Amino acid sequence: MALARGVDVAMDRTVAPGFTRIGPAVRSRLPGWPAGPEPGALAGRTAAVTGATSGLGLATALGCARLGAHVRLVVRDVEKGARTRAEIEAQVAGAEVSVDRCDVSDLEDVRRFVADLDTDRIDVLVHNAGAMPATRTESPQGHELTMALHVLGPTLMTELLRPRLTSHDSRVIFVTSGGMYGQRLRPDDPEYLDGEYSPTTAYARSKRAQVELLPLLGSRWAAAGIGVHATHPGWADTPGVADSLPRFHQLTGPLLRDAESGADTTVWMAATQPQPRTGQLWHDRRVRPTHLLRRTRTGDPERAQLWDWVRLQTDIDKPAR
Ligand SMILES: NC(=O)c1ccc[n+]([C@@H]2O[C@H](COP(=O)([O-])OP(=O)(O)OC[C@H]3O[C@@H](n4cnc5c(N)ncnc54)[C@H](OP(=O)(O)O)[C@@H]3O)[C@@H](O)[C@H]2O)c1
Repeated sequence: MALARGVDVAMDRTVAPGFTRIGPAVRSRLPGWPAGPEPGALAGRTAAVTGATSGLGLATALGCARLGAHVRLVVRDVEKGARTRAEIEAQVAGAEVSVDRCDVSDLEDVRRFVADLDTDRIDVLVHNAGAMPATRTESPQGHELTMALHVLGPTLMTELLRPRLTSHDSRVIFVTSGGMYGQRLRPDDPEYLDGEYSPTTAYARSKRAQVELLPLLGSRWAAAGIGVHATHPGWADTPGVADSLPRFHQLTGPLLRDAESGADTTVWMAATQPQPRTGQLWHDRRVRPTHLLRRTRTGDPERAQLWDWVRLQTDIDKPAR
């Protein structure tokens, strides 16, 4: 078992082997690989997945439907959402699937989505929607888009859904990225106003922010019985990767995981029993370090500074007038 753990950790720290399809191929054969959820593990539960029309979001929605969940596809394009629903229904007999519209980067649309949502119960909320715009882009509220889509929108959505995340085994899962290993938190410049914009840096900073906020969000929502987790998929072959990183996609093509394998830990996290401890980063069904490099390390004051910015932009904790 110790040897198996050593192989797993070595693949993780050297990044490339662990992130590719080799990672799960080897790990799933090692002794001690955590078992998959029982069939029907999500029966009677509702799982909402943002960005469910493509890549990992579709694979996550399919995985949750296969485990018996009522799946709510939270999408910005409802026609695409309807096609995705048909695809899931065709693949999973008896699947219960709904489509809800939400542009996660638009804080007003997040508020409207929550107000319109016709269910009083969500058990699993997967913050999967993601993007890497080629040029610096702003959300309708004027926020840099990756921070709006990966941090502000999901935080506000979770906060507003808190009264419906009431099953006492509720789980909120942020799909983050191993790209964050290369960036440190920048609470001094959350909107990427300083220096020349780089799509990969902006993306990785916003994913770093997700990971650094995990402990804060975990403690904030623990009292309501909500567990908060982050998963990173490694490198998976999805439309998003092909469009945003064409050279990377071309170079690594045969080594990339398929979407199902990239979504494996997210689906596992949605359903495994008992629910793992809140506030941790996961990849291939194991807790992973949040830093691999000394230069990215972050202190509590920097985390608190970013959190103050998030609360201010989302009006969370604003005293009622
Ligand atoms: N693939 C990888 O190797 C990899 C690695 C690390 C992390 N990730 C993360 O995994 C998640 C899924 O990525 P993917 O590779 O599956 O990408 P993808 O194929 O591009 O899918 C992204 C999904 O997010 C949706 N989306 C984008 N902007 C949105 C918005 N403003 N509001 C609502 N939905 C929005 C897209 O909707 P439309 O269909 O309407 O465009 C699409 O459904 C992302 O968070 C990404 O950062 C992926």
